[in-house]
Amino acid sequence: MSDAADQIFAALKQSSQSGAPLYLQLRKSIEDAVNRGLIGPGDALPSERDIATKADISRVTVRKAVQDLVKGGILVQRHGSGTFVAPRMERVEQSLSRLTSFTEDMARRGMAVRSAWLDRGLYAPSPDEMMVLGLSSSELVARVARLRIANDTPLAIERASLSASVLPDPAGIGSSLYAALELTGNRPVRAVQRISAANLGEGDARLLEVPPGIAGLHIERISYLASGKVIEFTRSIYRGDAYDFVAELRLTGPSEEGRS
Ligand code: GLP
Repeated sequence: MSDAADQIFAALKQSSQSGAPLYLQLRKSIEDAVNRGLIGPGDALPSERDIATKADISRVTVRKAVQDLVKGGILVQRHGSGTFVAPRMERVEQSLSRLTSFTEDMARRGMAVRSAWLDRGLYAPSPDEMMVLGLSSSELVARVARLRIANDTPLAIERASLSASVLPDPAGIGSSLYAALELTGNRPVRAVQRISAANLGEGDARLLEVPPGIAGLHIERISYLASGKVIEFTRSIYRGDAYDFVAELRLTGPSEEGRS
């Protein structure tokens, strides 16, 4: 059995005199082991069965303690591979004045970027897509939906829509949408971004490995070519615990007033 397991059981033995319900004692033992750094971010928790057998408590009790810690964001569960101590988030500071791609933003910070595909294909456009991208109902929209991951931590879910005439093969973009658009001379030069608060629903929270209901950011980016044509309509959900968006503000002098 792992060191992590031994640490938890040692803590559990010490607290077993406290008279509190068993699942609370177990929850506290695991939480203490995490807080004291005895088990670190990304470490696997022993299996439910191992904990139950070694601590001589029921699996239902173990499950209840573990579920509480998952809800609190201390542990994360990955389907098929078990329960782990949640990764510690280093917040990403993101400027709101540069039109950069996710790949460029993360690479600049020295973070390893990858994406998991959620969807890519050509579809009949939704009314929103028709309006924003200027498509007619007989045209197709290319959709590219990805879970964006930096240093193995999922940071955002991005759902981009572009005209199929610009992106006829959404499966062929490789790892960066903007790099693919650059190759065909379609990289945007200007964008309008709208950021609003959102509580994460079950599905998004599961993908982002955070408890459902926690705060996130809904970000909508509409980007343009130099000609003024809309090229990209992207709706994203970012982890609220991972991002700080930073904008530089300047005092408007008398000569500037009324311009914006
Ligand atoms: C950012 C933007 C998206 C854009 C994406 C492109 O994350 N919020 O609107 O689609 O960058 O990133 P990449 O070129 O890495 O695919």
